[in-house]
Amino acid sequence: MQVFKYERGKEDTVLNKAWWKEAVVYQIYPRSFMDSNGDGIGDLNGITEKLEYLKELGIDVIWLSPVYQSPNDDNGYDISDYQAIMEEFGTMEDYDRMLARAHELGIKIMMDLVVNHTSDEHAWFVESRKSVDNPYRDFYIWRKGKDGKEPNNWGSCFSGSAWKYDPQTDMYFLHLFSKKQPDLNWDNPKVRDRVFDMMNWWCEKGIDGFRMDVISLISKPEGLPDGVPGENGYADSGCANGPHVHEYLKEMNKKVLSHYNLITVGEASGVTLEEAKKYASADGSELNMVFQFEHVGSGPEGNNRFGKWDSHKMSLPVWKKILSKWQTGLEGKAWNSLFLANHDQPRSVSWFGNDSAEYREISAKMLATCLHMMQGTPYVYQGEELGMCNAYFDKLEDYRDIESLNAYKELTETCGVSHEEMMGYLKRISRDNARTPMQWDDSANAGFTTGTPWIKVNSNYKTVNAKQQTTDPDSVFSYYKELIRLRHENDIIVYGEYELLEPQNEELFIYTRTWNNEQLMVLCNFTDKDVVIPAAVMAQIPADAQILISNHVGNLEAVLRPYEARVYRYNVK
Ligand code: GLC
Ligand code: CA
Repeated sequence: MQVFKYERGKEDTVLNKAWWKEAVVYQIYPRSFMDSNGDGIGDLNGITEKLEYLKELGIDVIWLSPVYQSPNDDNGYDISDYQAIMEEFGTMEDYDRMLARAHELGIKIMMDLVVNHTSDEHAWFVESRKSVDNPYRDFYIWRKGKDGKEPNNWGSCFSGSAWKYDPQTDMYFLHLFSKKQPDLNWDNPKVRDRVFDMMNWWCEKGIDGFRMDVISLISKPEGLPDGVPGENGYADSGCANGPHVHEYLKEMNKKVLSHYNLITVGEASGVTLEEAKKYASADGSELNMVFQFEHVGSGPEGNNRFGKWDSHKMSLPVWKKILSKWQTGLEGKAWNSLFLANHDQPRSVSWFGNDSAEYREISAKMLATCLHMMQGTPYVYQGEELGMCNAYFDKLEDYRDIESLNAYKELTETCGVSHEEMMGYLKRISRDNARTPMQWDDSANAGFTTGTPWIKVNSNYKTVNAKQQTTDPDSVFSYYKELIRLRHENDIIVYGEYELLEPQNEELFIYTRTWNNEQLMVLCNFTDKDVVIPAAVMAQIPADAQILISNHVGNLEAVLRPYEARVYRYNVK
């Protein structure tokens, strides 16, 4: 790995400069990206076709959501063979062609590594369930029932119990996600070795990194103790940041990661700042960075009865406090990943911005400015660069996501939630909002497929699409392109130190980045009103400051227009 050493401004600390800190990642959800053969399902050849579009955007790395063989209970997050490609997506030859073409264009490929669980159709599990003395039995987590019931009161993230009874051996197996996603037993060294062998196989193929699915859950607490039950009668498993997770990741690092020049990011729901410093320590002993989820939840003000479903957007001061905590907390010690959206979240412009016709574009650009000017590696989720919006499906039949469908059933049948209320939750926060097909142009099905798409296209595709935006210099796409270019050309955006100003301001997000003798002042208006910039902030901006980027054309005054974002650049002593 190419490592540059350099001195940080005024401090003595020496940090590593690394390519993955300077990179911008683009997430592809293959099922919804581009369909090349008219079966309504996105595929690898579709991705290869669109690599030039990504080159034009300027991103460095693609995070590819799972493309492995899978019965698709959870759209590929249930893997039945880690070394084969899902038939619907193509063949290994298609994969190799995509990888080679991406590399030709200077784009790296980060694979999704889903190893907390496999599919129940994986050969290991097929063996494991056969008998208690099968050599694969201990690859999974089997327990006897307790008083004729499940071994403990843990709930699955996809509703109901986290245990499924298997009559074959009269025992239960653990599944923190769907019944078709049995959890692997990471305490078994054979499991770890098989996983590491598989990872090495992909690395030898020439891939460039791993995004590690729910990696914070792999080490289960000793004795699998009951938790405190919630509204649905089930408890959180308490598996997040379990007793041996760092040990296992250090072993993975030693046996796999350290042999290659990779980008690695761990999905770590429930991670604290202190834990993140271990996962993503600057000493390189585990991963490069983690995804933390505090800023996409309801925050400490949240008082949700139904978990994510009745969560709400938090107030701006609380949101700023959370993001700033991560910015300053990891400074010099670990590294942040920056994201507002992914395939599990609602569309960022719909949740954090304003997706009305009037403000969709400007608020999407403002959010992008706010995120991309921070310290960390930014992630763009497919369609976010176009300002794609939530699907707002009116009918339950339009939803496809297992989490949404299971939750509908559980909340309406056992928690007293009405159909109308639940449909409202789904419109705001269902994962399917992020999974509607990529909007390429204004032709039928947004140019995604010539067949019938597996999930409905967002009805706004005639006005929101890539074809229109790639040629429009004022589009959301062009704005993202500029943000990415600026990051590539300015060390201050990558490495500058972050400081939040005006923490209590309820309308503006204002922060600085400082690097050597330079400073950026980032000003973002999160409201649909004109907001006066505080005098103390204006006083900090010298008269000869330049505008690095802005989403607003017109006079630059001490007032920010609705959703205006403005970044000043100037010298400091
Ligand atoms: C992660 C994935 C999500 C998936 C789950 C189970 O949270 O991002 O899509 O359903 O893990 O694999
Ligand atoms: Ca297809």
